[in-house]
Amino acid sequence: MADNIYPIFDKTLQREDRENLLKQKGIMIWFTGLSGSGKSTLAIALERELYKQGVLCRILDGDNIRSGINNNLGFSEADRTENIRRIAEVSKLFVDCGIVTIAAFISPTNTIRKMAAEIIGTDDFLEVHVSTPIEECEKRDVKGLYAKARRGEIKDFTGISSPFEAPKHPFLSIDTSSIPLEESIKTVMEAIQLKIT
Ligand code: ADX
Repeated sequence: MADNIYPIFDKTLQREDRENLLKQKGIMIWFTGLSGSGKSTLAIALERELYKQGVLCRILDGDNIRSGINNNLGFSEADRTENIRRIAEVSKLFVDCGIVTIAAFISPTNTIRKMAAEIIGTDDFLEVHVSTPIEECEKRDVKGLYAKARRGEIKDFTGISSPFEAPKHPFLSIDTSSIPLEESIKTVMEAIQLKIT
């Protein structure tokens, strides 16, 4: 904790004031899964559906964040931890604004996701495991990264040369190789409806 720092949290308007203004509640929807599992596709489709229903959202996505605020981080365990720590701190600000905040990050380990949940607040943290099997992710290989990882051109690649731990008790689990996108979005919408209004 820094010395000589005097937070003004108690003097500012509260989360509840902002939620009343927006007529919605802030929540964190945290998609975790392998590269190519469909996290971003789900996040984008969910945002559009929520927007249609008049709900304000904000997506935070791996490749976007890593070209901006986290452009100095790589894929070692320490860097992934710092990546997710910063994302969680930023997400917390959005949730505190009453915004439905949607994260799409590999966030590969239980420890990393636990850290995120604790920063954001476990009550606000809905973990959605995008459980598409690695065989399918590798077959899709949208960015050509699995092929590079197999050739040894990328090190520490999740699922190939770096671990991915499936969440033990996710809020939801979605396998995009077997469930159509519209159906998944319907499932998520039903599951979060009472939490956002
Ligand atoms: S995380 O592990 O720190 O949560 P994050 O979601 O931000 O990862 O970034 C993942 C994206 O970075 C992947 O979708 C892929 O495009 C790219 N990437 C580049 N190198 C790696 C790597 N070694 N492992 C995983 N993803 C990588």
